[in-house]
Amino acid sequence: MLAPPPVLLSADRIAERVTELAGQISRDYAGVDDLLLVGVLRGAFIFLADLSRRLTVPCSVDFIALSRYQHGSTATADVRLIMDLRVPIAGRHVLLVEDIVDSGGTLDYLIRTLRARNPASLRICALTRKAECAPPGLRIDYLGFDIPDQWVVGYGLDYRNQLRTLPYIGMLDPAVMQCSESGAIASGADSGDARLRMLGAER
Ligand code: IMP
Ligand code: MG
Repeated sequence: MLAPPPVLLSADRIAERVTELAGQISRDYAGVDDLLLVGVLRGAFIFLADLSRRLTVPCSVDFIALSRYQHGSTATADVRLIMDLRVPIAGRHVLLVEDIVDSGGTLDYLIRTLRARNPASLRICALTRKAECAPPGLRIDYLGFDIPDQWVVGYGLDYRNQLRTLPYIGMLDPAVMQCSESGAIASGADSGDARLRMLGAER
């Protein structure tokens, strides 16, 4: 079991920001009566639960789940749908709700996949973004926080399916990740590769 990591975003700060985002979304979608929130499993489930309960516009909720596979030893990875939406989205106003944007690959895949289904509109809400990693052209309509390029856990975000239920967002010590990837601290493993392997295991 991993020890609770130091706080990056406290539960209070997250709650305050989620309320602000919900206010902004409710204002923007005023008059829309078929808003569909699409949560990306598993990381977005807590954010989606809190955000949806603060909206003042009617909405329904669906989920989508992805997996990421690495090709051999290269740094490229394939995003694949492992659980699709239960409802058609053609003509619906869709708000995609993500926990975190890192390289932007997941979001890019989701946007292309959902756009092809002809929703009336598609917007993106992400709780966090690693600003140094995300492509500058990737538009996020509702963003909670820009955070540093570090592995974060809690409030739905996991490390190897652990620490998701922490009430705050904390920064995982990179040594912990290296240690559990290689069995030894400072093994010399490429941290990017290690991280991609880990993403493959968890998404
Ligand atoms: P991207 O495709 O590189 O943007 O990665 C986004 C996805 O990777 C998120 O939906 C998360 O599932 C996962 N992820 C990326 N960074 C973190 C992190 O720091 N903590 C937990 N999950 C992360
Ligand atoms: Mg995610």
